[in-house]
Order: sequence, then structure tokens, then C-alpha cells
Amino acid sequence: MVSQQAPIGVLDSGVGGISTLQTLTKLLPDESFIFYGDSANAPYGEKSAAEVQKLADHVIDQLRAQAVKAIVIACNTATSAAKPQLMTKYPDMPILGIEPALKEAVDAGKKDILVMGTPLTISLPKYRAQVARFDSQANVYSLPCPGLADLIEQGHDGLPEIEAHLSELMAPMLEKPVDGVVLGCTHYPFIGKLIQAQFDHPVTLYTGYEGLTNYLKRQLTDRHLLRHDHVKQTVKFMSSRQTVAELALYQQLFDSGIGL
Ligand code: DGL
Repeated sequence: MVSQQAPIGVLDSGVGGISTLQTLTKLLPDESFIFYGDSANAPYGEKSAAEVQKLADHVIDQLRAQAVKAIVIACNTATSAAKPQLMTKYPDMPILGIEPALKEAVDAGKKDILVMGTPLTISLPKYRAQVARFDSQANVYSLPCPGLADLIEQGHDGLPEIEAHLSELMAPMLEKPVDGVVLGCTHYPFIGKLIQAQFDHPVTLYTGYEGLTNYLKRQLTDRHLLRHDHVKQTVKFMSSRQTVAELALYQQLFDSGIGL
């Protein structure tokens, strides 16, 4: 029997999911969370779908061992590659996943939308189907960003290489009349301002984090798992790279906010 008091497990290939965790903890202040970053195996976005399925399944095992009541896949790549399989394997527990927030951008009336994601996310049928759904409402420019999540994993927002790599990746997109940018990888919000700065006009960023949090709230409510006891929220960090420094880094990134 799953307990209402149990924490919610959140996972990513590394630090990216901390950007999602910040919204989850803010909008669900009565819930506690355990974040697992699979940094030892990052990046996921340049592996095969089968490899990502295996890795995400292993992380879910670790989180289930902590008696979590729900799982949030705070990784667009793992959602695209593995969510249906994981939901089938663990039918006893809500498993939700972040996906590129194209709908949010279209609903906001954006007409020329750039979607940035890992090569795996952008190549998978789930994303292709999503683009096809909104084809008649907006021009969608899909930009796979090899290497970008990995650089952010290594240096968050401070590496000079990030700026150089980003400019190179984005150059072909700067000719398009982009009015909205979907950050289809949870690592990218850490460099959200840098992404906006590539354009010579204002662009709105979309992450989908609020929609995901609201959906989680509905799932928990439907299963009578939403907490109402106003106990102080706890957030615990775990990592496959089991070093004190890695856990301290997660905590520091969580505390400092992503500045979006
Ligand atoms: N943060 C992840 C995502 O949302 C994956 C980055 C990676 O490991 O390649 O896609």
C-alpha cells in the first residue's frame, strides 16, 4: 500500500532535472521529493533508445527502493525513449514525464517555434507525432543539439565552450522569424538567458514545467495520494556518481535557482 506521506521520485540523466524540480517543489509545497541524477551515465541524448530504457529503469528501481509514491521523469529524452515501457512495467504507480512544450507555445499563439532537444528526443517517433499534430497551427523548427546537454552537465552555465557551441548550433535558426523557443531538454533552462541572447528580438521560452506539475497534482488527487498535512517539505538528492561533491552540486544548483 503506497503511503500519502511518501515522497515523489524525480529523475534525470543529471543536473537538468533540477530545473524541473524547482517548479515541482514550488507549486507543490506540501510534497517531499527525492531527486536522482544519473550523472555517471549522462548524457542520455546521444545513446540508443534501448540503452536509455535500461538506464531509466535502473534509476526507477533505486527510487522505488526509497518507497516513493510517484515518479516524474524530468528528462525529455527518457520520456520519449522509455515512458510507455516503464508505465507498463510499473502499473501500480503514477509515472509522468516531461516532453517538449510545443502545445504550450502553440496555445500562447506563437507561430514560428524553435524546438531544441537532444538528438535522441528529436529523432524519436513521439516527437515527430507531436510536430505533426501542430503542423497546421505553427511553423516548427526542430533543432537537435548534440553535445549541449553534456557541456551543461560539465559546467552548468559557466563554460565559455557553451556559448561557442550554442552559437554554432543556433546559427541556421537565427534566419527564421522565431517568436517562441521550446526548451525540449531539462538541461537547457540553465542557459535560457544565453539562448534568448542569440536573437536580436525578444523570444519567449517554454519548458512545460507548470503543465507537468498540474498534471502530477491531478494524478495524485485521483489516487488519494496528494498530501494535505502541511509538514515541512524535504528534498533529498541521490546520484549514480556517488560523491559528496556531486550531491553538494545538486543542492547548490537547486538552491540558486535557474534564473528564468
Ligand atoms: N535532461 C535530459 C533531457 O531533458 C537529457 C540530457 C542528456 O542526458 O542528454 O532530455
